[in-house]
Amino acid sequence: MRLKDKIAIITGGGKGIGRAVAEAFTAEGASVAITDVDAAALQSAADALCGDVVILENDVSDIDSHAQLLDTVVNIWGRIDVLVNNAGIEISQPILEASPDAWDKLFGTNLRGPFFLAQRVAKQMIASGNKGCIVNIASVHDQTPLWESGVYSITKAGMGMVTKTLALELAPFGIRVNSVSPGAIATPMNQPLLSDPEKLAQTEKTIPLGRIGLPREVARAAVFLASDEASYVTGATLYVDGGLLLRT
Ligand code: BGC
Repeated sequence: MRLKDKIAIITGGGKGIGRAVAEAFTAEGASVAITDVDAAALQSAADALCGDVVILENDVSDIDSHAQLLDTVVNIWGRIDVLVNNAGIEISQPILEASPDAWDKLFGTNLRGPFFLAQRVAKQMIASGNKGCIVNIASVHDQTPLWESGVYSITKAGMGMVTKTLALELAPFGIRVNSVSPGAIATPMNQPLLSDPEKLAQTEKTIPLGRIGLPREVARAAVFLASDEASYVTGATLYVDGGLLLRT
């Protein structure tokens, strides 16, 4: 019960890594509010999760919706201890075809939304004198570009700096901020890869541990960073990638 009595918001908690984080957090004793743009995914997550769970339909890129989101959580549980900034999208476009529209969508959901949500959560934590923490879910592509997903990679690199700058300026308030950066994980977002046996085999050959990762393997890293076991860890990025970064 490493997260006993902690109150957490997990964005994009309806499926994939976010849902696995919600499962791991509730198993460790946290109360969780999961948000998603996909109402059906949220409902199915709520049906599957045991524990204290609230589902909230929300689009993280809509920063005007954040105030109400936080009010709802604070009205239910009185405070926020952990924000897991997990919601994200991937749009693949060769760099020569990258469109301003895709740029805006990727930045809105992967960077601008999570940054301003973290800012608002941090203000709430400071106002209530609560030494909470923020875990951002980035990607190995915060370090190295993903072929034909250049703008996506740029947002993830930005997320790495969001983690560091927030960690620096929130440290005086006792708020820790870290990233988990996954490699290739078996999620709905990676469905095109998972359903192409040839491409999957090729990808697995590039991963030193020889296989795609599971969402729960990423979730365990988020549990660690959100728990008191990581009490002296801030501004860090934990790569959960089977060694992928060693080769790319
Ligand atoms: C991307 C996946 C990709 C993985 C490893 C993730 O950030 O979303 O599409 O398979 O990185 O390259």
